[in-house]
Amino acid sequence: MRLMSKSKGLLGELVVPADKSISHRSVMFGAISHGTTTIHNFLKAEDCLSSVAVFKKLGVSIEEKDEVLTVQGKGFEGLEQPTEILDAGNSGTTMRLVMGILAGRPFYSTIQGDSSLNKRPMERVMGPLRQMGAELTGNQKTEYPPITVKGGALKAIQYQMPIASAQVKSAILFAALQAKGETTVIEQACSRNHTEQMIRQFGGEIKVEDKKIQLTGNQKLTGQEIHVPGDISSAAFFLVAALLVPESSLCLRKVGVNPTRTGILDVLKKMGAKITQTNEDTQNQAADLLVESSTLKACEIGGEIIPRLIDELPILALAATQAEGTTIIKDAQELKVKETNRIDATADELNKMGANIEATEDGMIIHGPTPLHGAAVDSHGDHRIGMMLQIAALLTNEAVELTNPEAINISYPDFFKDLNQLIKGRI
Ligand code: S3P
Repeated sequence: MRLMSKSKGLLGELVVPADKSISHRSVMFGAISHGTTTIHNFLKAEDCLSSVAVFKKLGVSIEEKDEVLTVQGKGFEGLEQPTEILDAGNSGTTMRLVMGILAGRPFYSTIQGDSSLNKRPMERVMGPLRQMGAELTGNQKTEYPPITVKGGALKAIQYQMPIASAQVKSAILFAALQAKGETTVIEQACSRNHTEQMIRQFGGEIKVEDKKIQLTGNQKLTGQEIHVPGDISSAAFFLVAALLVPESSLCLRKVGVNPTRTGILDVLKKMGAKITQTNEDTQNQAADLLVESSTLKACEIGGEIIPRLIDELPILALAATQAEGTTIIKDAQELKVKETNRIDATADELNKMGANIEATEDGMIIHGPTPLHGAAVDSHGDHRIGMMLQIAALLTNEAVELTNPEAINISYPDFFKDLNQLIKGRI
């Protein structure tokens, strides 16, 4: 597919799609709670639809009417043994969090993914769930999907997380909700806290003190009305596009600004970006983001900020190719086990367009600024790599051909339409 090329400026306003992490969790909490959960602004993209399909196979009634998704929860005990293999598609969040839910259910089930997800590591979730008492087996006794789960009575554990991962933390918390006693999870660095927030929102009790989380099992959760804010991880592509394309001025409306997700704003501001936050909606942790074209300087990105911007690193790397100086991204080895190896994919594809990026063991070294030129590039089947490359294509007049653009449907089916609307006066 030929990508949109050099643009004069991105102008106007946009409501970005709903948050993917919150959409997944709203279906999951709806399913394990008692009573009706209504979800407004649910993200209808492939990943979240995988979660819906999984819970339907577990016997949960989920219906969509007038843009509202209604989940009829019957508690954990209302989940039924599936008669088919559960399919998480491309979604790591679906697979890992559902494993935590299945760990406490007294039946056998098998969950698989697509060719990308079936190569992603699952021991990080299987290990702690086994300690709690569940039996989990990967394909041919490996840690890779399909994973068969034989759930049952669980006991609470004390778990020091060896990696910073909200998916692992959430899987343990879903299991802990079904376990006897109080589970303690100690994070390595604070990762997105949507699961903890939703436990409270659905009427549960959870103690959080910095990196220590404590949760007692057998609590009764009750269905709620959820309003999903916009996804800052989707907004990120337009933030960087507006910064890099001259004469741009954008307003991104109702973007989720939960502090565990706003690492990208901190980094871009440090790089010199003109970004202002207005119209704060504290109840839904959302705000409007105003962004204008800016001259960027390099910076160092590493340490505890990494989990707060993990999904934004490919687009931040693009920003760094246009910044003055050398940007160092480190402590981000987790990028290697995302939908694709995002360190290699970002470096290889942007280097084809003229960037100067060295891939390292735990990140990238990016020398900027470098002009970008046309090339044939590949999304590697990864939605965020595909969107990042489209933003890169806006910086050149030459043809950029993208293989596998359909990967973008994983999180943002209207991405090209929305971008096209903001492009004014194309050269
Ligand atoms: C997610 C957590 C992150 C992130 C993913 C969504 C979540 O993964 O990359 O896109 O919703 O919990 P890890 O927990 O593996 O870092």
